[in-house]
Amino acid sequence: MRVITVINLKGGVAKTTSAVNISDKLANEHGKKVLIIDNDKQGNASKMFGLHNYDHEGTAEVMADRYVDMHRVIQKTCYENIDIITANMNLLTANLKVMLDQARPQQTRFKKALQQVETEYDFCVIDNAPDINVSTINGLVAADDVLVPLTIDEFSIDGLAELKEQVDNTREDLNEKLNFLGCFVTQFEKSNEADVQGEDYIRALGYPLFETKIHRTPKMKQSTFAREPISIYSPRCRASRDYSELVNEYLEKVSDSDTEM
Ligand SMILES: Nc1ncnc2c1ncn2[C@@H]1O[C@H](COP(=O)(O)OP(=O)(O)OP(=O)(O)O)[C@@H](O)[C@H]1O
Ligand SMILES: [Mg+2]
Repeated sequence: MRVITVINLKGGVAKTTSAVNISDKLANEHGKKVLIIDNDKQGNASKMFGLHNYDHEGTAEVMADRYVDMHRVIQKTCYENIDIITANMNLLTANLKVMLDQARPQQTRFKKALQQVETEYDFCVIDNAPDINVSTINGLVAADDVLVPLTIDEFSIDGLAELKEQVDNTREDLNEKLNFLGCFVTQFEKSNEADVQGEDYIRALGYPLFETKIHRTPKMKQSTFAREPISIYSPRCRASRDYSELVNEYLEKVSDSDTEM
């Protein structure tokens, strides 16, 4: 199982949209078995699959329960190849509980729990809150690849240096295989000069950037009301094709890095 963490300290940059649609493309175009971890107390990824509630264990229990049974926590979605661990406000309390629990390691809980299902999935995709907290650090410790969606605006690079530093520290201290694979531009508009020039700017700052950009389309917001990945809601729209290309580019990058190893 390869673990992807989708992260940016900034809100509203399409982390959840990207985590859901990358998972959908991996599952439904490439036939991969995917586990999504909703690692945000807002529970937006859970909502996208109609599974946001307080009746079932989820990410909070993965963080806080020593003997968590992953087969009880994981839920099926309506897509055969996509399962999910859901989140709700209980994740806030669970994270506080973990911070106070000095008795066992605080940063390796996802990693340890995922070992239970290591052979059952090809990919695990983690959707994070716009924050660095103990469960986002758990995501980094469990991950192979860091993907950073970003929108181009005056504040787009705010927090990127801190995020990169956090990734570098996690690699050094806790997870030597962690790979800052790259940023990708979301909600791109060709008519917007800032979007066009912004890419060069990000590259000039030395951050790796995917060639693929995700174009802005009104269909994306509509797809959240329909609670469907864009490939189902509007298969031929530009953003759906973009997510297909992004996943192809991702798979090429990781197969290149696998051959280098
Ligand atoms: N390509 C796109 N075109 C148009 N709208 C988009 C696109 N991608 C995302 N959006 C919209 O932008 C908004 C923010 O997206 P999303 O919730 O995925 O961001 P986020 O980074 O997960 O936010 P948060 O930090 O709150 O978790 C949503 O309304 C979403 O529908
Ligand atoms: Mg989100």
